[in-house]
Amino acid sequence: MASNPNLVAIICDEIKGGGPIPFARFMALALYHPEHGYYSSGKEKIGPGGDYYTSPTVHPIFAKLLARQLVQMAEVISTTHDEIVFIEFGAGSGLLAQGILRFVEEQHPILFHRLRYIIIEESPSFRARQRERLLPRYPCVCWENKMPDACVGVVFSNELLDAFPVHRLHIENGVVSEIYVDWEQDRFVERLLPASTALLDYVKRVGLLIDQQYDCEVNLQALDWMHEVGQALCQGFVLTIDYGYPAELLYHPTRKKGTFLCYHQHTVNENPYQHIGEQDMTSHVDFTALVEIGQRVGLAPLGFTDQTHFLMGLGIAEEMQGEADKMETSPEAKKHFLAMKRLMAPETMGKTFKVLIQGKGIPAEVALDGLTFRAFSKDSLIR
Ligand SMILES: C[S@@+](CC[C@H](N)C(=O)[O-])C[C@H]1O[C@@H](n2cnc3c(N)ncnc32)[C@H](O)[C@@H]1O
Repeated sequence: MASNPNLVAIICDEIKGGGPIPFARFMALALYHPEHGYYSSGKEKIGPGGDYYTSPTVHPIFAKLLARQLVQMAEVISTTHDEIVFIEFGAGSGLLAQGILRFVEEQHPILFHRLRYIIIEESPSFRARQRERLLPRYPCVCWENKMPDACVGVVFSNELLDAFPVHRLHIENGVVSEIYVDWEQDRFVERLLPASTALLDYVKRVGLLIDQQYDCEVNLQALDWMHEVGQALCQGFVLTIDYGYPAELLYHPTRKKGTFLCYHQHTVNENPYQHIGEQDMTSHVDFTALVEIGQRVGLAPLGFTDQTHFLMGLGIAEEMQGEADKMETSPEAKKHFLAMKRLMAPETMGKTFKVLIQGKGIPAEVALDGLTFRAFSKDSLIR
């Protein structure tokens, strides 16, 4: 599919007016321009008719098991507070919220009546979809533009941070440059310009081996996000599910090309200058940096694991066994079993997706079912 010509014209005008723009600015416009960005259009994005799948669209068990974890967290907090807030960032089609609310309503009616469910969503078209899906049945849901101050509850997201615009770096002969986007002879071209101090500081903190040729991404917006969340949260948990690694693996010397990818109609490519406004762009998350920023605003790391182990701790094996028992006679049960397996098997989504849990005002020894089995040692995120 061709690029959106209106969006290309807008980006091009910005470059003509002020010179080359950092790649992160190009990505922000391509994904989030309020009228023409990928996430602003009404186009189907997630699921079979879209560009990619996310865990909530693979099987409803994901929402149910995550809800179990959220309820357990609410129980830890609720000894001292009457109202409990769940804040979901980047709720997409609203499927995850729907599954969570259904579970809480059916299994934990007392909590349900004390619950305020806040969605913070950048995309106007997703906001409209979420309202349509959720409001008729769940009036406790409301939409905010940013984290409310001094809130007590659980902040969570699935595949939020990988969708934030990233800065792209090129390192060669010890020199760190940032990739900028320019317009030349009717097409976008990349230029290398000196990296900003914020990016140089990041490279220094990661300890990148800068004597070799190396490309990578830096997600400064994810750090700002964690800072804002940690500052606004008075007591509670932050649960972040996304693909990524601890810094030492993400920025490993052998990963010389970074992790930036584009998704279009369930195919993957590395070219952000095609299908502009029609394809998603992502990169893997640096979980070490998230932990460090979190610690500065009072968020203690409580655990880090992968989706396989997280879902196992929350009981996916029992749910799968239930379907396996019916599989011989029921093709439906086989479909459910295979979808659950896709969520948790290490070779599909289980190992790629990681789960970071941080807490503020929470005892360090708190027992959370999702952290029963840990894929990483406690210190894997400490530099
Ligand atoms: C890859 S989708 C994931 C959707 C959903 N969580 C799921 O798992 O299906 C990323 C979501 O994050 C939203 N998003 C991106 N940047 C955001 C921001 N700064 N604040 C809130 N939502 C944002 C997008 O609009 C979209 O809903």
